[in-house]
This record gives sequence, C-alpha cells and structure tokens, in this order.
Amino acid sequence: MRQAVGQARKARGRGAARIGVVAAIVLVAACGGAGEKAATPVAAAPDTILPVPAESLLTQDSTSRSILRGMALLVATKDSLPRHVGNELHCTSCHLNKGRKPFGNPLVGVTNRYPSLWARTGTTVTVEDRINDCFRRSLHGTPLPAGSAELRDMVAYLTWLSKDLPSGQHKGLGVDSIPLISPDTIRGKTQFAMYCSRCHGAEGQGGKNLGVQHPGPPLWGPHSWTIGSGMGRQRIVSAFVHHHMPFDAPGFVADSIANDVAGFIISRPRPDFPGKELDWPNGDAPDDVPYATKAKSKGAAPRQ
Ligand code: HEC
Ligand code: HEC
Repeated sequence: MRQAVGQARKARGRGAARIGVVAAIVLVAACGGAGEKAATPVAAAPDTILPVPAESLLTQDSTSRSILRGMALLVATKDSLPRHVGNELHCTSCHLNKGRKPFGNPLVGVTNRYPSLWARTGTTVTVEDRINDCFRRSLHGTPLPAGSAELRDMVAYLTWLSKDLPSGQHKGLGVDSIPLISPDTIRGKTQFAMYCSRCHGAEGQGGKNLGVQHPGPPLWGPHSWTIGSGMGRQRIVSAFVHHHMPFDAPGFVADSIANDVAGFIISRPRPDFPGKELDWPNGDAPDDVPYATKAKSKGAAPRQ
C-alpha cells in the first residue's frame, strides 16, 4: 500500500492518464475492493525461498567470467544476439530477476533436472534444448548453434545458479498455481487498461516509448511471444500476473482479475508457431494449451 501511494505521488508530475491508473489501484486497495473479492491484496512472492548463490562470490577466473557473460545474455538477449531474437523480449522478461525470483519462472535448479523427458515434444531433452526452445517459441527467434560460446555461457550461468538446489521439488519453482477461473475477456480488457497499459502500452505493444520507469515488454502483436510459448497458457500467465504484476505494485491483482486479464492477453493476435499442432504427441496436452494438437484430437486422455 505504502509503495503504491509512493508511486501515485511520483506519478503526479507525469501526466493525468497515469495518475488516473495509479489512483485507481490505490483506491481499489484502500477500499478493500469495494466489495470486489478480486481486489484483496495478496502477498508478493517472497525472495528468500530459493537458495541462490551470491554474485559477490564470483571472481575473475574463466569460469566466473563465463557465468557473468551468461547472466548478461539472459538480461540483454536481444541486444547481444539480435540475429537470434525476433521480438522485443529478453529471457528475463519472463524468468524474473535473472531467473532467481520465486514463482517468477525461476531457472534455479534447472541444470539438475535435465536431461529429462518432456511431454511437449515426447522426447528426452537437454537444458540446451530447453534454452533453444525458448529462443524459438518465446523470443520468436532461431536457436543458438550447439557448441557455441553463447550457449555454453548461458548453461554455465544456469549451472552456477543451480548448484545449491538439489534435484527434485522445491517451493518457489515454476509460477505456482492459482484457481483457474474461466476468464471474462471483456472484463479483462477493462482491467488491462486499468492495471497494465501504463507500462505495456494501450495496445499491448510494450512500453519502451512511454517514458515510464519500468517499461514492460509487448504482451501481444508482432513483437511479442509466439502462440507456442509457455506464456500462452492460461494457468501460467495468470499465476505469473497474480504474483508479479503490476511490476511496481505486485499483489494487487488477485485470482479473478489475473485470470480475466490473462484470458484477454492470450486472445489477442500474435506470431504463429508453425508445427504447434505436433506438440504433446502422446495426447497429454494440458487443457489450457491455446491451440489444437493432433494427438489430443485423436482422443488420447489429457494428464492434467
Ligand atoms: C515469453 C516468456 C519467456 C521468455 C522470453 C523466455 N522463456 Fe524460458 N520459459 C518460459 C516459460 C513459461 C517456461 C515454462 C513453461 C514451459 O515449459 O513452457 C520456460 C521454460 C524454460 C526452461 C525450462 C525450465 C524448467 O524448469 O524446466 C529454460 C531452461 C528456459 N525457459 C530458458 C530460457 C532462456 C535461456 C530464455 C532466453 C533465451 C528464455 N527462457 C526466454 C517463458 C519464457
Ligand atoms: C510498472 C510497470 C508495469 C505494470 C503496471 C505491469 N507490468 Fe507487466 N511487466 C513489466 C516489466 C518491467 C516486465 C518485465 C520484467 C523484467 O524485465 O524484469 C513485465 C513482464 C510482464 C509479463 C511477461 C513478459 C511478457 O511479455 O509476456 C507479463 C505476462 C506481464 N508483464 C503482464 C502484465 C499484466 C497483465 C499487467 C497488469 C495486471 C502488468 N503486466 C502490469 C512492467 C509492468
């Protein structure tokens, strides 16, 4: 609450439209949502439940330098690898806080979990495969060549990030889950204008020209993720939004609003991902995948 009021004060000098939005958030929080259960503030995801090694322990040796280069690639993916990134996103647009944020799609522990069987391809995949899959689906780009220095540096960073997390389950991984409520996309559109557009743009095009402190990446349109990205799933985007958005006031978007806004975002046009119908070849596509898959249409039972 104090943070939101601070933001409102800061915003005051910066234009009427933005004040309106921030004031609306403050108002919703202050009034306990005027009878709207959705506005009950939730606790922002804590930062302490994942064992993340300290950056200050890195030295100047070649391993440390590779780790630091990998970290930089995750943050400045497009600037560093323009030929491999086809949209306006970075890895850390979705893997928050350099892949370290609990429930923010963290990458802590990831190198301990691969190689492993992946239902979406029905094959055993390596961590390099998963990185390249995000290049193709989430960054609308092209994979890094096997054996390239960039891929090696990214894996070095993820290996370092994972060193204190034993394999297996751990609280804080993924995006958590929130109740899946059938989204009202009309309401989602209004809520998007209220809570999100000041940083992500009125047309979801991204906030880089809006002059805000934390411009958000595009959420739909030609410069956003493809329909084949994990971000395209209702469960994933709604839980992500619930825990982490608005970026400067996480906790104001409760279950039902997060579901409505996520449904609205997913319904918007975005780059296609050719071949997506071949995903989940064993017929176990989850129910929130936003496209038809051939194997599921043959009648195989979904696993979740
Ligand atoms: C548009 C959002 C988005 C962007 C951008 C993105 N990812 Fe992902 N990534 C996801 C989501 C969502 C998942 C998990 C869901 C899934 O399996 O698809 C994921 C999964 C992964 C995984 C597997 C994690 C695990 O625990 O199994 C790795 C590794 C990964 N991403 C690395 C990267 C790297 C490296 C980049 C940048 C080159 C990147 N991602 C860019 C959304 C994104
Ligand atoms: C104060 C600015 C701000 C507001 C308001 C905001 N976001 Fe974001 N959003 C960001 C930033 C910044 C990132 C990327 C995080 C990073 O780079 O560290 C982001 C990332 C995202 C992502 C993952 C990346 C992508 O392109 O899909 C989604 C989804 C998202 N926001 C949805 C929302 C929704 C829905 C709302 C409204 C409920 C919202 N945001 C409000 C700044 C904001």
